[in-house]
Amino acid sequence: MTDPAVTLRLKDVSKTFGIVNVVDSISFDVKAGESVGLVGPNGAGKTTLFNCVCGQLQNDHGAVYFEDQPLNGMPTYRRARLGIGRTYQRTEVFPDMTVRNHLLVAERVHSGTGRLWKDLLNMSKPTKEEIEVSDRVMDLVGLMELADTPVAALGLGHCRLVELARALAGEPTLLLADEPSSGLDERETAAMSAVLRTVQRERGTAILLVEHDLEMVSEVVDRVVVMDLGSKVAEGTFDEVMANPAVRYAYLGESA
Ligand SMILES: Nc1ncnc2c1ncn2[C@@H]1O[C@H](COP(=O)(O)OP(=O)(O)OP(=O)(O)O)[C@@H](O)[C@H]1O
Ligand SMILES: [Mg+2]
Repeated sequence: MTDPAVTLRLKDVSKTFGIVNVVDSISFDVKAGESVGLVGPNGAGKTTLFNCVCGQLQNDHGAVYFEDQPLNGMPTYRRARLGIGRTYQRTEVFPDMTVRNHLLVAERVHSGTGRLWKDLLNMSKPTKEEIEVSDRVMDLVGLMELADTPVAALGLGHCRLVELARALAGEPTLLLADEPSSGLDERETAAMSAVLRTVQRERGTAILLVEHDLEMVSEVVDRVVVMDLGSKVAEGTFDEVMANPAVRYAYLGESA
């Protein structure tokens, strides 16, 4: 890959579980600062593809490139340090920990200062720089007023923002967001969309968004890739792909 405008390039990426091609020769690019939606029915292979990008899984075939660098074989923590951040489909937060402490731990995991075990047992004093980074992230996603609140006291909408903030604590170039609106009501979903747009606009972060809420997808992304049963079935603007018969078939069972 030699195009500096391309942040993520997937080239024929495949992942097989047993005899099933869960991800089947997927190729597409995410350009620098671009927001791309990755949509498709349940079981299409979207989360598995995310895992191949982050390194939780290694793809069997094909290649993943991040800013010109082939990632194959590279462990998750090194990919994170290169600038790939992600959120998970299921919210995983620590109930007793405050919003700020979630971010401080995420920063330390990211920077690999080796103090993590100490932090998990009893948070050692954060540095001025660490506080500044956590302030910037909380400001970006609108959590500043809740900095010292334990997440057990927050609703799901705020918990999802904490997760997002945690992924942003390492100031990634590419954010992979796996169903950030899952379980949220309409108002919370609109708030999440607004935050993602702000992240893209203010930080220039490229975003790959897996999302079932198509209204949210239409509001947040510049372009959409559609997967079904492991394969890419369409790519284009939101309106283009939604008018595509193969997409309507995958989603609605309409005859193609
Ligand atoms: N570790 C695994 N071992 C075996 N099969 C798996 C594994 N992980 C996922 N699968 C299967 O791979 C397929 C794709 O799963 P994946 O979670 O990637 O889909 P998805 O598009 O993210 O779906 P959803 O929209 O429901 O989150 C599914 O059939 C799933 O059961
Ligand atoms: Mg999934």
